Amino acid sequence: MRATSVDRYGAPETSRITTAQVPIPGRGEVLVQVEAAAVTAGDARIRAGRFPRGFALPARLAIGVLGPRRKIPGTVFSGHVERLGDGVTDLSIGDGVAGMTGGRLGAHAEFVAVPVTALASLPEEVAHEAAAGALFGGSTALHFLRDRAQIYAGQTVLVNGASGSVGTAAVQLAAHCGAIVTAVSSRRNHALLRKLGASQTIDYRDSPIKGLSRRFDVIFDAVGNLSRAEGLRLTAPDGVVILAVADLMDTVTARGRVHAGAAPERQEDFALLLDLVAHGEFDPLIETLGGLEALPEAHRRIDTGRKVGNLVILPPRRESGPDTIAATGGAE
Ligand SMILES: NC(=O)c1ccc[n+]([C@@H]2O[C@H](COP(=O)([O-])OP(=O)(O)OC[C@H]3O[C@@H](n4cnc5c(N)ncnc54)[C@H](OP(=O)(O)O)[C@@H]3O)[C@@H](O)[C@H]2O)c1
Repeated sequence: MRATSVDRYGAPETSRITTAQVPIPGRGEVLVQVEAAAVTAGDARIRAGRFPRGFALPARLAIGVLGPRRKIPGTVFSGHVERLGDGVTDLSIGDGVAGMTGGRLGAHAEFVAVPVTALASLPEEVAHEAAAGALFGGSTALHFLRDRAQIYAGQTVLVNGASGSVGTAAVQLAAHCGAIVTAVSSRRNHALLRKLGASQTIDYRDSPIKGLSRRFDVIFDAVGNLSRAEGLRLTAPDGVVILAVADLMDTVTARGRVHAGAAPERQEDFALLLDLVAHGEFDPLIETLGGLEALPEAHRRIDTGRKVGNLVILPPRRESGPDTIAATGGAE
């Protein structure tokens, strides 16, 4: 199969197209033909070996010292079931599914093998591109807002980094719960954020959020430029601070009203998000860039720090020429 490979941490161009063996699904797994895959801030971190302060050493020990041990990147996919592993009874070949691969990566390829617990059924109304775009920011925002902040109608929520993948999901999900949302981004994204449900918008270049005198019930930082102490200063006395990009120190000291750490990847959350997309209640704001060849461009866009919403690639798409690549060699 065609796949992308990242051998060493580096610039966007470090990701290249290669050939790899089609994975064999193990017990409880399925082989998915990937129709669409998201390219995320998480993918860019792994490609570059770039992690929040204090995490570089533990992250490299976990995923690879000079380059990722798992060579095929990508965590978010939508596609259809191509083959069933042993013990899989509740899915059939051809079923539409979407999910996340977690630490095994591998979604930036024509096929990926995943446990059935890592995916949800794709509703008929949802296109593969929309499904792939919905899950990264969506599951992060859902976890932090629902499970950690336990938000409810009428609360005031400030979303910092509101126009990215996590931020656009946080704005929409908070507004969906009836919260009053203040979205922080550059001015060019303000109209979009109001359309998504923000009541107020702030341009961080005119009004740095650290200097705001207002207090909020929930501060959701999806940029990483707010410390634990600064977040607490911006919250009401019983308010909650979410640091989605905390450094190591703020992560280990997060307790009480401050929440940090990695959002889990849960099948039931994928199903909920896909259902919201199907009912027009969550817009994943996707931009489709092309086939696997578009991956360096997607990484360049993420590295600017100005990406809006979600970038999606379509692994089956060929930019030119017939498919002459056979299933040889292994990239993992
Ligand atoms: N904890 C977890 O489990 C978890 C899960 C997923 C992601 N994350 C992390 O969350 C972060 C955000 O991810 P993402 O996918 O949303 O990134 P993204 O889509 O690349 O975010 C880009 C957005 O950030 C905005 N931005 C840049 N600088 C800003 C600033 N100073 N103030 C306000 N907004 C600013 C940009 O808006 P403008 O163009 O308007 O400036 C742009 O739209 C990443 O660091 C990622 O690693 C954590």
